Amino acid sequence: MILDGRDTASIAAAAQALHRGELVGLPTETVYGLAADAGNDAAVAKIFAAKERPAEHPLIVHVADAAAVAHFARDVPAFAQQLIQAFWPGPLTLILPRRPEVGAAAAGGQNSIGLRCPSHPVAHALLLACRALGVQGVAAPSANQFGRVSPTTAAHVQSELGDALLVLDGGPCEVGIESTIIDCTRGAPVLLRPGAITREQVQAACGLPMVAKEALDAPAPRASGTLESHYAPRAKLRLMDARALQTALDLLGKDIDAGKARIAVYARAILRTPAAKVLYRRMPDDAPAAAQQLFAVLRDFDALGVKLIWVETPPDTPEWEGVRDRLSRAAA
Ligand code: TXA
Ligand code: MG
Repeated sequence: MILDGRDTASIAAAAQALHRGELVGLPTETVYGLAADAGNDAAVAKIFAAKERPAEHPLIVHVADAAAVAHFARDVPAFAQQLIQAFWPGPLTLILPRRPEVGAAAAGGQNSIGLRCPSHPVAHALLLACRALGVQGVAAPSANQFGRVSPTTAAHVQSELGDALLVLDGGPCEVGIESTIIDCTRGAPVLLRPGAITREQVQAACGLPMVAKEALDAPAPRASGTLESHYAPRAKLRLMDARALQTALDLLGKDIDAGKARIAVYARAILRTPAAKVLYRRMPDDAPAAAQQLFAVLRDFDALGVKLIWVETPPDTPEWEGVRDRLSRAAA
């Protein structure tokens, strides 16, 4: 059931459902989440069941404001405080030392916890309504089946998880890819997942160089957002530079048997395409716009029955890191 998230009665109904231990589809500025009361381990277990996600994978807990951090985390380092100051509310998740008495199921049993304060007005209103009922935070992974493309509209959530779920409609997500995740438990910021907030912005805000997660001696916990093959459309996706893409298209144009090939091309470059054989969509030239539509475009191609998606590799610059990361996982 989809409810209009701008309606205060919908917010109240969703907050009560969360308080009762039920799940809710939640709009955020990044992607839609599947939310449960982070303080209720039985409710959190329903998320893992609905997503068919392994229970030792930690979830992100969403909070109304910076004041709620102290409920879940302790020993917050100064650089993490600076990042909260600079980027909350917004698409930044911080991994912090967890208070042992709260959020064990949400944290997948880790002694750390991922916290984020979303900027979406519907998410914010829901988190405030939850707090008034004693719910201090909501655990919410992306509202898709495990391993699939994250949803960026309420309709996507319904198609992933069914009609019975209460979903608050907050419109299409503005950012379009999941939050940047910074591990703050290792003395210096470690980038676990790139997103709209770039590594350069993080470094500038806290004055510390980012440590590569590959440089850690103890590996970061298992995390689905960081698995090789994740964010996968049903079609097979290949990344190529514009020249290789043009060569492949020229060959396809000459192949008279390729009529039923069902190939989609998603590229920034202007390419000559055998129009009858391929579906051609232009990728926006700026990274935020490309991120905003990325998952919806992949879903569209799947819905059209495309079997192969050829994507032009995005530029190797910091602002494209999040989009590059999602595309290379989708190609794995
Ligand atoms: O943008 C987002 O962050 C979205 C929206 C709904 O807010 N949420 C999201 O959640 O992407 P999810 O569950 O799909 O991503 C959770 C990821 C894990 O896969 C892991 O990479 C990281 O967050 N994570 C969470 N808690 C962690 C912890 N304690 N230690 C290390 N990584 C953690
Ligand atoms: Mg996810």
